[in-house]
Amino acid sequence: MAESGQETLANLLTETRAFPPNADIATQANVTKAAYQEASEDRVGFWETQAKRLHWETEWEQALDWSNPPFAKWFVGGKLNVAYNCLDRHVEAGNGDRVALHWEGEPGDSRDVTYSQLLTEVKQAANTLTDLGIEAGDRVVIYMPMIPEAAVAMLACARIGAIHSVVFGGFSVDALAGRIDDAGAKLVITADGGYRRGKPSGLKDTVDAAVERCSSIEKVLVVRRTEQEVAWGDKDLWWHETVAQASAHHEAEAFDAEHPLFILYTSGTTGRPKGILHTGGGYLTQTSYTFHSVFDHKADDVYWCTADIGWVTGHSYIVYGPMSNGATQVMYEGTPDTPHKGRFWEIVQKHKVSLLYTAPTAIRTFMKWGDDIPAEYDLSSLRILGSVGEPINPEAWMWYREHIGGNRAPIVDTWWQTETGGIMISPLPGVTATKPGSAQTPFPGIAVDVVDESGKSVGNGEGGLLVVREPWPSMLRTIWGDDERYIETYWSRFGHMYFPGDGAKRDEQGDIWLLGRVDDVMLVSGHNISTTEVESALVSHPSVAEAAVVGASDPITGQGIVAFVIVRGGVESSEEHLAQLRTHVATTLGAIAKPRQIMVVPELPKTRSGKIMRRLLRDVAEKRELGDVTTLQDSAVMNLIKDGLDNKS
Ligand code: WT7
Repeated sequence: MAESGQETLANLLTETRAFPPNADIATQANVTKAAYQEASEDRVGFWETQAKRLHWETEWEQALDWSNPPFAKWFVGGKLNVAYNCLDRHVEAGNGDRVALHWEGEPGDSRDVTYSQLLTEVKQAANTLTDLGIEAGDRVVIYMPMIPEAAVAMLACARIGAIHSVVFGGFSVDALAGRIDDAGAKLVITADGGYRRGKPSGLKDTVDAAVERCSSIEKVLVVRRTEQEVAWGDKDLWWHETVAQASAHHEAEAFDAEHPLFILYTSGTTGRPKGILHTGGGYLTQTSYTFHSVFDHKADDVYWCTADIGWVTGHSYIVYGPMSNGATQVMYEGTPDTPHKGRFWEIVQKHKVSLLYTAPTAIRTFMKWGDDIPAEYDLSSLRILGSVGEPINPEAWMWYREHIGGNRAPIVDTWWQTETGGIMISPLPGVTATKPGSAQTPFPGIAVDVVDESGKSVGNGEGGLLVVREPWPSMLRTIWGDDERYIETYWSRFGHMYFPGDGAKRDEQGDIWLLGRVDDVMLVSGHNISTTEVESALVSHPSVAEAAVVGASDPITGQGIVAFVIVRGGVESSEEHLAQLRTHVATTLGAIAKPRQIMVVPELPKTRSGKIMRRLLRDVAEKRELGDVTTLQDSAVMNLIKDGLDNKS
């Protein structure tokens, strides 16, 4: 972010709509207003209370050791087994027959897995890993489609204290090899392939090419999913010939609360991927409790998080958070438009999903596809809707509320990161009057603040930088193998506060609005303007489905606002239409935010986790050679955009 103009940081958008919690949810909510009070009186004590929701083999002696910042230790001296907390505990309590996973394969096959079945498979997989020489502290890379075995593999690692590193199944040979090397992994668990967009796509072939380059890998364990041809070598073992044959007896051993649980690589905006390290006790405490409270989870709920297990959302809110609460959930292998654009709503209807957690990028896609698609299905089971991954534009929020939530289900917009491990800012469905587009409230026991460049809290109605003032249980412990980079990346800006890299503002009521990554903030004629706000203004026009905004260098204003928009189905754009859009932004946000130029494009460049890559759009806007495109979800998108623009000019 630029040093000047801080006081003007993007406080342009005024959103006055608010939706108080509905009575059904409020009167029976798992967590009430009292949690905020309790946590503010004794933050660490509050987290100790939540840790007691888990089973500890040995209780901790000290809740938080912050004597060597920024290296935190939570629940020092405590011992637990994470997999025991996610599985055995529920079976021992008599809930073994409860469905853990209603799994839906993309081609239409499906399978229900109960908690006792899942436990049996995890015990067998744990025995197999041990037979293969995997010991506590060893690293195991998991490169899998969205099938139950992916969760089994993660929990089997957790059970024996091995550190898993899940690599998203869409990543390339280079990305996979780089992550294997950095972690020094001994084993890869993969599948022959998985189903994406109506056809099998290979995984084992990518693993073979990566393993060729990675000397640390001793074995490759392969689940049969698609039954496609695969090459077979000395290191390869079939899951069905090993795990399925292994003993189903396995005693879970307790590990230290600070024993590493997993590494997850996050690419960030620059540089080589960072191996974010999470440990067992604090991570499970926060993911478990936030799931319980933000989703108000009850035993008869059916929960569905549409994320992939390769992202932190899949770790924290498919595996560890929900399973430690004994939740019944849907797991879906494929894409939302296979075999048709109503697939998600068909699944919600089939399983009577009551809690849904998805991303703004998906919601905007559904908006673009049209209201009539969800309208064909019975979505009345939905009780709470979650959003995560990006700021959600107010109009997308309203669409989600109306067309998916039947104007009934509260929306929880949850802000967090791979690094934070669990939810940090979110409404509570039984407490908060929700506002379209705002994550609103620091979670109880989480010391989030918005500050100016000097680290001083901003007042209501002002913008600045998001920070976390105090350590929290599920915080990253370091970057794998690189403590210096951990300090430099997150703690050097303010010294004593964690800096996540996001811009934010407080509204007149003190609620927090996320404004996107600070690298994306624009500086126009000395004013900091948030890309998020201009995008939301564009999406609030009925003709616009999606928008991405960048600041392109401008000889007069420093940066000029350039917008890329996707129009809604049936809309014909014209010079006049674009002029209307520019005026619409000016009337919504003020003349300073009026885009210099708006271009209509067929698609936007996104990362594989669905975030818009504004950096590439900036290259287009400034007529430069494109930078690194390897993390793009669909590498053809930039050509589509450039060709479309060339034809017009
Ligand atoms: C970045 C972290 C958290 C799991 C998925 C992403 C952005 C995330 C929100 C939200 C506004 C959000 C932030 C953050 N982000 N959730 N509700 N509102 N922005 O994890 O890949 O580590 O990305 O995603 O910019 O820093 P991640």
